[in-house]
Amino acid sequence: MSNAIILVIDDNPAVATALSVLFSLHDFDTIHADTPEGGLSMLERRDVDLVIQDMNFTEDTTSGEEGEALFATIRERFPDLPVILLTAWTQLSSAVDLVKAGASDYIGKPWDDRKLLASVANLIELGRSRQVLKARDAADRRSQQSLRERFDLCGMVFADPATERMLSLACQVARADVPVLITGPNGAGKECIASIIQANSAVKGGPFVTVNCGALPSELIEAELFGAEAGAYTGASKARQGKFEAADGGTLFLDEIGNLPPNGQMKLLRVLETGRFSRLGSNSEKQVKVRVISATNADLPAMIRDGSFREDLFYRLNVIEVELPPLAKRPADILPLARLFLGDEHELGPDAEAALMHYRWPGNVRELKNVMQRARLLASRPVVSAADLGLPAATAAAAVVGMADDDPDAQDIRAALERAGGVIAQAAAELGLSRQALYRRTDRLGIERS
Ligand SMILES: Nc1ncnc2c1ncn2[C@@H]1O[C@H](COP(=O)(O)OP(=O)(O)O)[C@@H](O)[C@H]1O
Ligand SMILES: [Mg+2]
Repeated sequence: MSNAIILVIDDNPAVATALSVLFSLHDFDTIHADTPEGGLSMLERRDVDLVIQDMNFTEDTTSGEEGEALFATIRERFPDLPVILLTAWTQLSSAVDLVKAGASDYIGKPWDDRKLLASVANLIELGRSRQVLKARDAADRRSQQSLRERFDLCGMVFADPATERMLSLACQVARADVPVLITGPNGAGKECIASIIQANSAVKGGPFVTVNCGALPSELIEAELFGAEAGAYTGASKARQGKFEAADGGTLFLDEIGNLPPNGQMKLLRVLETGRFSRLGSNSEKQVKVRVISATNADLPAMIRDGSFREDLFYRLNVIEVELPPLAKRPADILPLARLFLGDEHELGPDAEAALMHYRWPGNVRELKNVMQRARLLASRPVVSAADLGLPAATAAAAVVGMADDDPDAQDIRAALERAGGVIAQAAAELGLSRQALYRRTDRLGIERS
């Protein structure tokens, strides 16, 4: 990366020279303007990383008004640019007000070189990491947009790169006629993904039939999947069509596949191998063309090891695995989803946003949907507060403390580093730690920093 550029706006050439010598020793390039107008026009022309500005530019003035006006203009035109105010001690109180108004720091004249350098180095690193993150966000948004243009995402809402990667895989495999296994915890959106795969497949015009393998008693599974002739079992007074027949020319979605009992597993394997089956109580075979998508929250490899799931069936179903992460592992999805479920008549207050981001969402998107629908009914004002969400008390308290929490745990740190894309200054700022404190904690907790 090229040297950072610092613009000094000060009518005193001695100040500009002293600063430029100091900064050149630390690989910062300095440019200089001696009037506010000159400084503003340099900002239009050059890519400046940081401004150091004086508060008075006309001889014998000490009011600081010129500096305040300059600062206000810079903030308006370049909202993200860090600005350090160089101020005489007599104007300390107005400098403090300006810092509250968004100045990054103030330094008293005569300045202390070490303090000034530390502030400059910190602000430049923070500013650059913000730029990196902004560029990355823009790139993420572009690729998410292109995914939305190329595929039918069935109204699914997402913003997290992890979700985008998963969706992009799902859409790519949708066209191929291969079985897909969707894995992920309850409420994460597995059924949504199954319908997206169907909507982008060659059989999108065909039926989409769902079987919940967990909801059926084992003796009914066969009749459900393959159908039965009249009288095939007690209570079967009429012939019935099974789900495989119903899904012919389309997609059969086998939800909770880990709950399929052993006899069902065996029968299913046979159809998948041959495409042929017969109704219960019938001798004649039927042939169907069905795209099979299955989903589970179970650890199928562990079930194979303990003998409760057939390994051969697993390989048949799991030609492609689409792994849907829990909501907590794709934090950028939380607020967009919350707004979707909250509807247009309410908005989220800042404390509610903090509480939503801190909660771990064991019930994933389904739980978030319930929480937001309840808040929508119960909130008395249009701006929903943390209290309206009714999240477990420990979490709500943690959200409030979280902002000033000086002891984040390993999980908080990993999450912050991930969100910051490994940019230490950004993660530290988010955690309210100094960079050094964050380094110490990652070392102590054995956390990799990138
Ligand atoms: N990304 C999403 N955008 C919008 N709604 C979603 C999203 N993910 C999940 N949902 C909703 O959350 C609920 C749970 O999703 P579902 O697909 O049933 O989860 P799973 O099958 O993994 O248990 C459903 O009401 C679903 O419509
Ligand atoms: Mg489900």
